[in-house]
Amino acid sequence: MARPEAGPGGRIPHHVAIIMDGNGRWAQGRGMMRVAGHREGARAVRRVVEAAARMGVGILTLFAFSSENWNRPGSEVGALMRLFAVALRRERQGLLDNGIRLRLIGRRERFSDSLQRAIAQAEELTAGGTRMTLNIAANYGGRLDLLEAVRRLERRRAAGGLDPESLTESDLAAELYEPTDVDLLIRTGGERRISNFLLWQCAYSELYFTDTLWPDFGEPDLSAAVDWYASRERRFGRTSAQVHEGGD
Ligand code: FPP
Repeated sequence: MARPEAGPGGRIPHHVAIIMDGNGRWAQGRGMMRVAGHREGARAVRRVVEAAARMGVGILTLFAFSSENWNRPGSEVGALMRLFAVALRRERQGLLDNGIRLRLIGRRERFSDSLQRAIAQAEELTAGGTRMTLNIAANYGGRLDLLEAVRRLERRRAAGGLDPESLTESDLAAELYEPTDVDLLIRTGGERRISNFLLWQCAYSELYFTDTLWPDFGEPDLSAAVDWYASRERRFGRTSAQVHEGGD
């Protein structure tokens, strides 16, 4: 199926991943509690999901909670968990109506039973969505994603079902939560780090950093990032001349 055209180069990134940073600073800058920033961040999630689907993005992966975020004050972690559960219950029907499939990527065992139920219900309800996949990365770490993939391959090898010499990159990618390469990685909030997000999948990503705090991010900001992406020349190790000739 042809993808909609947009941006100066007319190219829409198939997989966009976003590190949503700056909720706490957004709130503190207004004399509010950090959790108010997360609530406003949830509104930005809604705007950006709608905008990405409209643009024709195929996969949107949002970093909602890293495996290191458990180290935050208990009250903030608790508030974030409640926010996730409320958002999942509130948004699932809208996702279904818009053909958006929701998946949680990360280790869900550490979440409360009720949050795990809310996740499973939203995943089941939206499983048939084909317009866009929305991955919410929660209790996710890129190194752990790789480690777990290696563990699964090793179990298959030990059971005699795998020849290590014939193992390919695709075989390893297939064991990750999300095997698809990221085309465009966006980080809001001014830091220029990958922070243990999709390490394998970002091997060839275009990296876009903006000082905009996540609660202020919306469709115009996503469009600006996509336009910037469309202007980039992706060489995958080849020379510029090879890219333009289309040969090898
Ligand atoms: C980073 O900002 C943000 C988070 C750790 C949480 C992200 C959560 C949301 C956007 C809320 C809703 C999410 C969903 C999926 C409904 P920060 O707190 O690190 O900000 P700071 O760097 O300014 O302190």
